[in-house]
Amino acid sequence: MKGPVVCRRYGPLRGAFEVPGDKSVSHRALLFSALATSPSKVRGLLAAEDVGATRRAIEALGATVRDEGAFVVVEPPERLCEPGDVVDCGNSGTSLRLLCGVLAAIPGLSVLTGDDSLRRRPVRRVLEPLRRMGAVLHARDGDRVPPVVVRGAALRGTRHVLPVASAQVKSALLLAGLFADGPTTVEEPHLSRDHTERMLRGMGVNLVVEGLAVTVAPGRPRGGTVEVPGDISSAAFFLCGAAALPGSRVTARNVGLNPSRTGVLDVLRAMGASVTIENAVDEGEPRGDVTVAAAPLHGTVIEGALVPRLIDELPVIMVMATQARGRTVIRDAHELRVKESDRLASMGEALAAAGARVELFEDGCAIEGPTPLAPVSVRTRLDHRVAMSMAMAQLFMDGGEVHLDDVACVATSFPTFFAMLDRMTGPSGSPGGGAGETTDSSTPLSPGGGEGRGEGEGG
Ligand code: S3P
Repeated sequence: MKGPVVCRRYGPLRGAFEVPGDKSVSHRALLFSALATSPSKVRGLLAAEDVGATRRAIEALGATVRDEGAFVVVEPPERLCEPGDVVDCGNSGTSLRLLCGVLAAIPGLSVLTGDDSLRRRPVRRVLEPLRRMGAVLHARDGDRVPPVVVRGAALRGTRHVLPVASAQVKSALLLAGLFADGPTTVEEPHLSRDHTERMLRGMGVNLVVEGLAVTVAPGRPRGGTVEVPGDISSAAFFLCGAAALPGSRVTARNVGLNPSRTGVLDVLRAMGASVTIENAVDEGEPRGDVTVAAAPLHGTVIEGALVPRLIDELPVIMVMATQARGRTVIRDAHELRVKESDRLASMGEALAAAGARVELFEDGCAIEGPTPLAPVSVRTRLDHRVAMSMAMAQLFMDGGEVHLDDVACVATSFPTFFAMLDRMTGPSGSPGGGAGETTDSSTPLSPGGGEGRGEGEGG
């Protein structure tokens, strides 16, 4: 779906659903398979624009990617080659930053760029440590933002101590380490998502984790089968919405439960929601079914090591906090300012315009609740999570509408979001059920649209 949309639905949220594959795991499955010594099969790969950018990038480096039933099969080249054109990463920071680490070691010249949002996002954090390994990279505006130009070079194994917990930077350095002349260590201040560590180890790479330090030895992964769980960041919109919307109860099936990603569940519990986990499987990437039922919520404090474990969920947590009794405080979340948009500014502005009581800090915010929200027009700023979070905020407007100026960005991570929201809010049309949205091109959206893997149980 592209262009502006008007959201007008009614809760509660009910039913079981399955979200598309985890975005972070999907990027890694493609990229690491392209580096491998033998073919790989990936099941549950996210079919969304961001992952499409990584797919096109590895094809440009010589890999072959094909769809085979439920699997995507990646045939790595004998040796990765210099791309024949500029590599366009679209909206995807993960594609661009992880590729910096790989391209740094590939003989030849590569140029990485992206859309208006990505070309405003910082890259010095990855350029500087890569240079310490001998890499040759340059970026626009004094090495601050993409495009990035990379000339492949011989790399030295190096020990890095990162000033911020960033899985993208950590992963770029570990990938560069695969091509280096000795071990590479990355130490971070708090644990960021560890999908890279788990997947590389699963593919036979010699990688050791000691506390917050990860050391990788040079070598190539071997191909295998990768199972991608559902994306907890996508499920979070419905889990947080359900927690705050009276009468709701939803189950996210087969969702990723990697502890470095489940901070949102800790916050739901801390705020008073009922959270149960069933059918947990713990192999490679842990997964299971998560049920959240509505409850009277209260404010909480989110800071420190918890922040990287829920960084992408903070926009919808901010929406939920408007419905909780008392004060919710978010601190240590500077990183929110350099995501697809400045999410503190985007969400702070949108929620304040909807009547929420929000105080912004440089590194977070405080939200006082509960507040009924009022109809609002939102600038989504090429930021999928702002668009989806404010679509959820509409459910707290007692039938009022949210105008989103452009929802094309939702396709970067969750193309079936609006169809799933229709399904979870039940039959469209009236209070007590759900009502679909209209677009200015008067394209009606069919409730429950066929692309999702949802299986709602009705409203
Ligand atoms: C991601 C890491 C996170 C997250 C992003 C995806 C990844 O960023 O916000 O959406 O796949 O590695 P950081 O690099 O700040 O951890």
